[in-house]
Amino acid sequence: MSKEHSLLILPGDGIGPEIMAQARRIIDWLGANRGLNFTVHEDHVGGAAYDAYGKPLSDGALALAKQVDAVLLGAVGGPKWDGVDYDKRPEAGLLILRKELELFANLRPAICFDALVDASSLKPELVSGLDIMIVRELTGGVYFGEPRGIEELENGERRGVNTQVYTTSEIHRIAHVAFDMAGKRAGRVTSSEKANVMESGLLWREEVTKVAENYPDIALDHMLADSCAMQLVRAPKQFDVIVTDNLFGDLLSDVAAMLTGSLGMLPSAALGVKGGCAMYEPVHGSAPDIAGQGLANPIATILSLAMALRYTYDCSAEAQLIEGAVQKVLEGGLRTADIMQPGKAKVSTSVMGDSILRAMDSLNT
Ligand code: IPM
Ligand code: MG
Repeated sequence: MSKEHSLLILPGDGIGPEIMAQARRIIDWLGANRGLNFTVHEDHVGGAAYDAYGKPLSDGALALAKQVDAVLLGAVGGPKWDGVDYDKRPEAGLLILRKELELFANLRPAICFDALVDASSLKPELVSGLDIMIVRELTGGVYFGEPRGIEELENGERRGVNTQVYTTSEIHRIAHVAFDMAGKRAGRVTSSEKANVMESGLLWREEVTKVAENYPDIALDHMLADSCAMQLVRAPKQFDVIVTDNLFGDLLSDVAAMLTGSLGMLPSAALGVKGGCAMYEPVHGSAPDIAGQGLANPIATILSLAMALRYTYDCSAEAQLIEGAVQKVLEGGLRTADIMQPGKAKVSTSVMGDSILRAMDSLNT
């Protein structure tokens, strides 16, 4: 009997539940066909948790998240909760999980599947074979810096404050993740900040440079974040690993995602200290405008599950099986609405799930 794996599923809001339903079918398939023994827990996060418990993550769900091997999260947020205070907003549920589990390293791979080369908004030759890894710092910077808030001034004006702050140890640990990652890839790290205007950016640049001394085989270069955004759409294949802070990582990973054809394709992993819980989630949001219509692309969530298999459960064969099945289905011409191309077959969320399962059947040896 194989080792028992524990997983907490948090579908969240908008398209979260429908994409997660497809990931669940894959988990069941892995149990039935590969003997992987998962204990799956499920709870709410985000607006769904706010509606159920009055806060975006229940104490029970947080406690469970700390016990399990991994969390698989769908998406959070939606206009329904726009008026809610920041500390109770759907997004706060996600930020609490990242912070409480100390998930400081966010891996966001942007890989362009051959079959989707023409779905990108860039010319095919610019994205064909694209394979970038964005390493985003996830528990520091302006997302969490103090002071923060909106205050009333005596002159009747209001003032909004957020603080961008990084310490050496925060920069060092994320830099190590990036250099280690580059060692397993093409051996290049681009570090991105705004050292030309921000002290925190200058510190970032200096400390990343120090960490690089431990990695003589890795080539490091520095790129201002605005220039990096520009280079990502000009010549994206120049990049191997990009390491950057929380806010720039949020922006640059959306840009990188779009190069691959659709945000609906991109998985991510949020990792903490070795051996601790990790969280996996699609890079895209909750897409409330298409929720419940069977239009959502479940691939980013399914590929996030594949990342969990690789990084948490040490099941890289099964991760490859899922990735191979996704590739096969795309090559077979099936597309959800977000990646639809002329001459291809448009399918719903659940038909995409069915097809990936069938491809897994055929690839399973
Ligand atoms: C992401 C999202 C989140 C972020 C939101 C939903 C809080 O955009 O994971 O990229 O800003 O980190
Ligand atoms: Mg984002």
